[in-house]
Amino acid sequence: SDNIFQAIISHAKEYGFVFPSSEIYDGLSAVYDYGPNGSELKKNIRDYWWKSMTQMHDNIVGIDAAIFMHPTTWKASGHVDNFSDPMIDNKDSKKRYRVDHLIEAYADTLPEADKNALIDDMQQLEAATDYAGLKKLIDDHKIKCSVSGTTNWTEIRQFNLMFKTEFGAVASDNPDDNIVYLRPETAQGIFVNFLNVQKTARLKVPFGIAQTGKAFRNEIVARQFIFRMREFEQMEMQFFVRPGTEGEWYKYWKEARLQWHLSLGINPAKYRYHDHIKLAHYAKEACDIEFEFPIGFKEVEGIHSRSDFDLTQHQLYSKKKQNYFDNDIDPATGKPYGNYIPYVIETSIGLDRMFLLILSNSYEEEIIPKEDGTNDSRVVLRIPAKLAPNKLAILPLTKKDGLPEIATKLMDECKPYFKCFYEEKDAIGKRYRRQDAIGTPFCVTIDNQTPIDQTVTIRYRDTMQQERIPISEVKNLVLGKVM
Ligand code: GAP
Repeated sequence: SDNIFQAIISHAKEYGFVFPSSEIYDGLSAVYDYGPNGSELKKNIRDYWWKSMTQMHDNIVGIDAAIFMHPTTWKASGHVDNFSDPMIDNKDSKKRYRVDHLIEAYADTLPEADKNALIDDMQQLEAATDYAGLKKLIDDHKIKCSVSGTTNWTEIRQFNLMFKTEFGAVASDNPDDNIVYLRPETAQGIFVNFLNVQKTARLKVPFGIAQTGKAFRNEIVARQFIFRMREFEQMEMQFFVRPGTEGEWYKYWKEARLQWHLSLGINPAKYRYHDHIKLAHYAKEACDIEFEFPIGFKEVEGIHSRSDFDLTQHQLYSKKKQNYFDNDIDPATGKPYGNYIPYVIETSIGLDRMFLLILSNSYEEEIIPKEDGTNDSRVVLRIPAKLAPNKLAILPLTKKDGLPEIATKLMDECKPYFKCFYEEKDAIGKRYRRQDAIGTPFCVTIDNQTPIDQTVTIRYRDTMQQERIPISEVKNLVLGKVM
């Protein structure tokens, strides 16, 4: 499976999906750029999420908040004090580890029972933020650094994951005055706009605010391709509810978000929930939706019951009331519910991680038996048609006999509706293979019969089956599959 993962990474580069950032300078660790096919796929995933949230829910609206926020935001949210991972350095190699990763990697080398006991111990110490205890665990087990091979460790330190930068050009006596953070989550842009949005969009609880955008985390151990990045994109939705109803809404969104994934036709056996025992600083109840990546079951999305934690904190720090007046009648009292700070259910998914999910789920090295008894092979990306970078490839069989003209006309007819790809070069088999490799669900070939009877050959990516259809039906056939 590690081989498959490496194959996916190479394929993503070779076919213009994902490149290491600033590669000519040997790249920047855990930062990636999306190429022509990658940026289309990423945009299609973002649009699919956005539509399902905003267009399909009358009570969810979108915003697009800035990446820079007032620094007090991150005091209030708890990120300045709590958004950190314990880390440790090896004194000989100077290699830095996240403590949990170091211990987990060592635990993997132990028999199953010992492994589980060690992980349990670690989790208890982590939950209690007992760093002396964690250090003792590392020392007692004589855990070695993979680079130096020694057990010569520093003490364990907190490492805050937020990136800092300086704001404005005015020098201040206190350099801290100019510090701003690159947001580590998009959620806070929603919380600080809660009343602006509620009032201007005239929304009644329960309602949601959705947002997609960049987030930044100075991850200590950044590896596994686009699974854990230092610059990434989130798609988050905060759903504001009346206190006391958060339990049912948490259940609702937990289920609804899994259904969203399954609506893409992905095998349900590849998904599972992971309910959290160890909760983030803001959470009351939380779970992950996990997907079986080639590197194992891993989190792709989180659903969190955040109570009124964030709005209450912003009220405290900003001294601006964050109340909502609910004029619905409470059957228990016969009077309006009145003033309260809403509770929040959050759904939070990483766009890049969803992209990796789609790539992992789509990638297949397929063996194709031939009539003469030998085998052929192809690499095919079975990307859901709705998300594919190109929906339709238009391929004139030859460059003569007016075929390119007919193909160009079809291209002009289709491209206002969905993304098409045009190609005249190379043998048709080769062109089909290239489209398979980038996940194009449909190819049509214009051949010498087309000028005679206005039909084309349509070829389906997944089955490789071909059929003859009137050229006039191509646009609607594709539209029906990609909308
Ligand atoms: N507002 C809540 C929040 O940010 P999170 O569990 O820290 O929660 C939510 O992040 C999602 O964002 C994760 O499930 C994951 O898909 C994505 N994510 C988080 N850190 C990431 C990273 N370093 N690289 C890529 N995606 C990341």
